[in-house]
Amino acid sequence: MLSTKHLLGIKNITLEDIEMIFSTADNFKDVINRPIKKVPSLRDVTIANLFFENSTRTRLSFELAERRLSADVVNFSASSSSVSKGETLIDTVNNILAMKVDIVVMRHPHAGAAEFLSRHIDANIVNAGDGAHEHPTQALLDAYSIRQSFGNVKGLKVAIVGDILHSRVALSNIFCLQKLGAEVMVCGPTTLIPKHISSLGIKVEHNLRNALEWCDVANMLRIQLERQDTRYFPSLREYIMLFGINKQLLDSLSKRIVIMHPGPINRGVEITSDVADSQQSIILQQVENGVAIRMAVLYLLAGKTEG
Ligand code: CP
Repeated sequence: MLSTKHLLGIKNITLEDIEMIFSTADNFKDVINRPIKKVPSLRDVTIANLFFENSTRTRLSFELAERRLSADVVNFSASSSSVSKGETLIDTVNNILAMKVDIVVMRHPHAGAAEFLSRHIDANIVNAGDGAHEHPTQALLDAYSIRQSFGNVKGLKVAIVGDILHSRVALSNIFCLQKLGAEVMVCGPTTLIPKHISSLGIKVEHNLRNALEWCDVANMLRIQLERQDTRYFPSLREYIMLFGINKQLLDSLSKRIVIMHPGPINRGVEITSDVADSQQSIILQQVENGVAIRMAVLYLLAGKTEG
């Protein structure tokens, strides 16, 4: 049983929770590789996917996970809803809950939105990304994919490269990898790395080659232009020269590292196509593992009504 009724972030869950999610995901990976990919585990459970911000991977992955567990699923997106008419978050969600929803999966542009909701409604809440705060299921599937590649996460060195400042993936990854015993480094331009991030117990590096020579795994993040209200570097061309990985750079390293990316990829910016599609990239394994991880999270939360 998980220690929590909601998955709001990685910061407040335990190592035991993470290990339980991983071992449950192992079982669901077997299920989704069978000819009949559906199990009746969440029959009679209703799940609402509330997406107040765009998503491709997370939304599809949650919906697939829910349907493979035989849950009833309702989908909501802010762009086609009454939110544009001025309805508040609580009113929107209470109306949805009046339709007897058991679990809410929510993505929202504002940090803390999932936590706010958990204080006002009875359903289990899963944070599918809140502003630049946390994206817990992404961090779980990332760490799970690293575990699949190396057999273990403990003792590995992971560099998170790019726009750390606007990234919820970076923060959740830092918490998750540290709980699992990995060493973490962030790498990017000074302007895209929060000032006090080293207080989390991670290394900070501004030279990409140094970061890549140090790490076993490089998790490449995209520049989140949609969250930037000012210029953080002189030009995209300069950013690519200093912080983009191409095949020549990858092949020139003294060891073979694993390349990850949470998506969506800006091909030719943070990584070139030949790196994204190389044998060293586990980007599509991350996507595949996302379904098993989300099945595990939903299954475990559905059995948890308090706490
Ligand atoms: N990785 C991720 O959160 O992608 P989406 O924004 O497409 O969901």
